[in-house]
Amino acid sequence: MGKQSSSKNAKRTRKKTQADKADKFLCYQKSVQSAEHEVEFFDQAYKEAFGRKPVTLREDFCGTFAVCCEWVKLGNKRTALGVDLCDETLQWGKDNNLAALSKTQQKRVRLIEQDVRKRNRPRVDVLAAQNFSFWIFKTRAEVIEYFKAARANLNSEGIMVMDMMGGGDCLEEGQVDKRTIKKGKKGFDYHWKQISFDPITHDASFSISFKFKDGSKLKHAFRYDWRFWSIPEVREMLAEAGFSESHVYWELEDEDGEDSGEWERADSADSVACWICYIVAIR
Ligand SMILES: C[S@@+](CC[C@H](N)C(=O)[O-])C[C@H]1O[C@@H](n2cnc3c(N)ncnc32)[C@H](O)[C@@H]1O
Repeated sequence: MGKQSSSKNAKRTRKKTQADKADKFLCYQKSVQSAEHEVEFFDQAYKEAFGRKPVTLREDFCGTFAVCCEWVKLGNKRTALGVDLCDETLQWGKDNNLAALSKTQQKRVRLIEQDVRKRNRPRVDVLAAQNFSFWIFKTRAEVIEYFKAARANLNSEGIMVMDMMGGGDCLEEGQVDKRTIKKGKKGFDYHWKQISFDPITHDASFSISFKFKDGSKLKHAFRYDWRFWSIPEVREMLAEAGFSESHVYWELEDEDGEDSGEWERADSADSVACWICYIVAIR
């Protein structure tokens, strides 16, 4: 057997690594998303704005629309609309998240493959844009155009919820946040990397990689090229787009000084190396 064909055989018989067998969307959901927590927060923020529970949700940049699927579990009147441009991601959500719901819950989830800047009817009580997704819009004009469309997609008693991140660590190129998501032989680690940050333009790129116990990796499974927006800039753009108020929800600490998963409106906060918060805008 010649050298070439023996190396071909070796290739053919190479044992698949854990990375080869992994599903990047599943790894993402397990590492990044906490849909139960998100919908609980939407209820809190809506109640604090209007004194009652919301019924309808629109999830912009919904990806695999895990949040929509969680929302419809919370009551048989609740409906959710997921909007995303990416057919592959929506399809994964249909095959996995939607398929895991009961038939009646499935009927209350609607999906549209389109740009989030389009207006749709009926309007909703809560419009969510999670995981910093609107940072894809890099100019004030683009963000304001998006916020105007988002506002038009809300009922008169409606809120828009988005998350924000910041702190000195987020501006440091090469910074990696590592977390073990699943322990044991079939476990994996999540790596969030700050690839670049330009102090003049605030262009920032990030990636998510997954590392498995056999040493294999899904390197840069997801990559984001964003504008690094600040809280005051976003609140100013919300006001310019017509929102009547906006509130920052900062995370409370538990008795050990750790993040508690509880959020409260705040007007100022201490400087920390890395933070995540919500901005809630009232239509
Ligand atoms: C960072 S992922 C967020 C996924 C999910 N919302 C989450 O919280 O984890 C961003 C998603 O936005 C979608 N996207 C980017 N630009 C878009 C646009 N203009 N309109 C609709 N979807 C868009 C991408 O296809 C991708 O699924």
